[in-house]
Amino acid sequence: MRRGFIGGNWKMNKLLKEAKETVENLNKSLTLSRGIDIVIFPPYTLLYFLKDLIVLPNIYLGAQNMHWEENGAYTGEISPLMLKDLEVEYVIIGHSERRNLFNETDEIINKKLISALKHGLKPILCLGESIEERKKGIEKDVIEKQFKHDLKRVPINFLENIIIAYEPVWAIGTGLNATPNEAEEMHKFIRDLIEKYANNNIVENIRIIYGGSVRVENVEELSSKDDIDGFLVGGASLRSDSFSKIIEIFNEVKGF
Ligand code: PGA
Repeated sequence: MRRGFIGGNWKMNKLLKEAKETVENLNKSLTLSRGIDIVIFPPYTLLYFLKDLIVLPNIYLGAQNMHWEENGAYTGEISPLMLKDLEVEYVIIGHSERRNLFNETDEIINKKLISALKHGLKPILCLGESIEERKKGIEKDVIEKQFKHDLKRVPINFLENIIIAYEPVWAIGTGLNATPNEAEEMHKFIRDLIEKYANNNIVENIRIIYGGSVRVENVEELSSKDDIDGFLVGGASLRSDSFSKIIEIFNEVKGF
């Protein structure tokens, strides 16, 4: 059975005081299960501060982005070595907000993905179609194209360290989530892509998580699908009570 994964993507939110309160509340309220990895993705400015505040065993820190180079004249960027220096273990690569608001191309995402893996970081690779693409019925073509380009030249022995997040762009921060069946169908399709391109028996070990308006109200139904191995939660991860509840429901449904 694959381990569960729940990430809380705080995006550009929280200052020191609020972040400290949220993590302290999580430390108190989370009922942990050995079968789930929980990762908090705060802004860069909070990583160092939070690393000693997290006291529970399977909660980890992740970054929301990184540059692919180790160092150099890249004003405003953060390198994989800097993340490792802060004991960060996970990094989100190719979030749709990076793709759409900051013009990250599949070529850039591919460089970041290879660099993260090379430096021993575990990437969460985000894939997702826009509403126009879904309306045209080309959502699977879009996902396959992103998958092919983003994973180009990634050595097969690294694949197991990648978590793939299916995040339909139209569901992110909109309150509209993909239905459990829509998500499950795409997760199965992504698993088939891994088999097609990697042609390897590790396909069953790779975790595919869903993101896009995951909330306490819809997490039970989404968790009931076999190919949904966890969630990347944005808005609902900002409050410790809703984030803990999402983890609790996921844990109950999956029976970890
Ligand atoms: P949301 O964000 O839960 O607020 O829709 C999800 C994400 O961006 O990963």
